[in-house]
Amino acid sequence: MSDLSFPNLLACPMDGSPLTRVQGSWRCPAGHSFDIARQGYINLLPVQNKRSKDPGDSKEMVLARQEFLSTGYYKPIADAVSDLVNASVPADRPSSILDAGCGEGYYLRELTKSRLINNGSRLHLTGVDISKWAVMAAARQEKNADWIVGSNANLPLLPACQDVVLCLFGFPVYQEFNRVLTANGVLVKVDAGPDHLIELREIIYPCIKPANQPENTPPGFTLLEQRSLRYRIRLNNQTQISQLLTMTPHLYRITAEGRARAEALTELSLTINVQINKLVAGDGEIKF
Ligand SMILES: C[S@@+](CC[C@H](N)C(=O)[O-])C[C@H]1O[C@@H](n2cnc3c(N)ncnc32)[C@H](O)[C@@H]1O
Ligand SMILES: [Zn+2]
Repeated sequence: MSDLSFPNLLACPMDGSPLTRVQGSWRCPAGHSFDIARQGYINLLPVQNKRSKDPGDSKEMVLARQEFLSTGYYKPIADAVSDLVNASVPADRPSSILDAGCGEGYYLRELTKSRLINNGSRLHLTGVDISKWAVMAAARQEKNADWIVGSNANLPLLPACQDVVLCLFGFPVYQEFNRVLTANGVLVKVDAGPDHLIELREIIYPCIKPANQPENTPPGFTLLEQRSLRYRIRLNNQTQISQLLTMTPHLYRITAEGRARAEALTELSLTINVQINKLVAGDGEIKF
């Protein structure tokens, strides 16, 4: 859990009013109370907002992502995200960063490291994910952040409290991102590009459909900067190949034959191709 000197940003998921910390829990004026779990995260996803008993990524998917990302294969993506964030926040005052759909927290951890290297001002980090397994894994690995089980569809955060929102391979809800961003707040979005993991897709699918490309400028935002990142990696064993497959949406789409072909692989060279967009809420005019 991050330090308490930063103004509180959390909102009650039932009625949107500010939450205040009272010892081991967060409470709203109406009396709704949310305990801080032993691992240091908070569950702000009301049962009635859950579409399933265990929403979001499973324990297995979270573990696979954690192990795969720890190898450093996606570090160039994390570096590009950290560079964009560092260039978007002022050097002389603390800023608040939300990772919406944070998974097991890799990108916020890498951002923290980049700040230490560059001696940047303090950041207040918040990671929200609908998967309790993801949030538990994130809370175990990084104590200096607020880790929250919650949904992008109803972010348990006060309006206009975030300087930057990250949505990395995630599920964007633009209206909510707009609501929680400050007046000149920035959204950094990373999505798979057309050639992302193309070699794996050629192996697991009988024919490849062009990937749906996300819209560049979603409603309520103005595109400030767009970057395409492309590089190659080589996976050297079946464990890494299986971890990669388990952490992608291909896990849900793959057929039994496709899976068998993937399971027979012992090495694989892959293209990493992502689209990185930096957007600003509103019409792009600086608000004073
Ligand atoms: C493809 S993973 C990406 C995770 C992380 N951003 C990363 O790149 O390592 C998508 C994540 O979105 C989460 N998720 C799915 N629906 C969500 C929602 N409505 N609100 C917040 N998170 C959600 C999943 O649990 C999963 O952790
Ligand atoms: Zn309440």
